[in-house]
Amino acid sequence: MATAQLEIAPLHPSLGAEITGVDLGQPIDEPTRQALSRALADHLALVFRDQTLTPAQYLAAASVFGPPMEQHYSQHNMPDFPLIGLIWHRNGQQPAEQWHTDHTNRERPPSATILYGVEIPSAGGGTSVANMRAAYAALPAAERRRLDGLTTFNSLDSGRTDTRQEDRDKYAKPIEHPMVRTHPVHGSRAVYFHISKTTHISGMAAEASRAYMADLLERMIRPEIVYHHAWRKGDVLVIDDRATMHRAHGDYDRQQSRVLWRIIVEGDRPRLDRPRPV
Ligand SMILES: [Fe+2]
Repeated sequence: MATAQLEIAPLHPSLGAEITGVDLGQPIDEPTRQALSRALADHLALVFRDQTLTPAQYLAAASVFGPPMEQHYSQHNMPDFPLIGLIWHRNGQQPAEQWHTDHTNRERPPSATILYGVEIPSAGGGTSVANMRAAYAALPAAERRRLDGLTTFNSLDSGRTDTRQEDRDKYAKPIEHPMVRTHPVHGSRAVYFHISKTTHISGMAAEASRAYMADLLERMIRPEIVYHHAWRKGDVLVIDDRATMHRAHGDYDRQQSRVLWRIIVEGDRPRLDRPRPV
């Protein structure tokens, strides 16, 4: 088992770091796993370039960040490797251009979303990641206190027509999560919600809930807290779902192919802790 010479180079002042010295196609030793877990908590988005992975190698590499979990739009899963989702417009998917964090309708939603660039268009089609820890810190104190007391109720996205009945049966049950969560590794707080998976916020009607979330996104997500990932073939992007939101960009030529393999890994049940004593 190789001991990696791991190096971490920040990609943006707010979040994102490129990791070098790690071949994700090889087994990862325990010290490296711990260093990667810490780097993810600190930098929130990790980029590994020039990876060449089979589906089995990719699943093994992703497991470094947690156990791969089932994805609920199962019609897009890789047939022989159902824990890998295919992001590919040619099978009818629309790019997820709204800011969101993944699978909030799970009791233990993913700690990380991992994307592997398999086919990349020559221009556009990037993925943006926003630092929701910084977004929380930048809110006025009164609004932070308000959000600290709110929860969301989450289900499958409203407005999708292609969801399989078996997925509805398994994943549509309402799940309540805090709108602010404490990062289990980092100890800091971040704003946490998915606007189109939230049926409503505690104590608010559906329409008012959606309007408030849209207003929050508008005010919180500024260029200073966004890392934009311009894909190269062979990139692996690991996104910390506990303290970020992300979105796809559909600004690429649909004559060209864009194929990403997605794995989500299970995390803790979100909770809001009291601040740790300093
Ligand atoms: Fe997503």
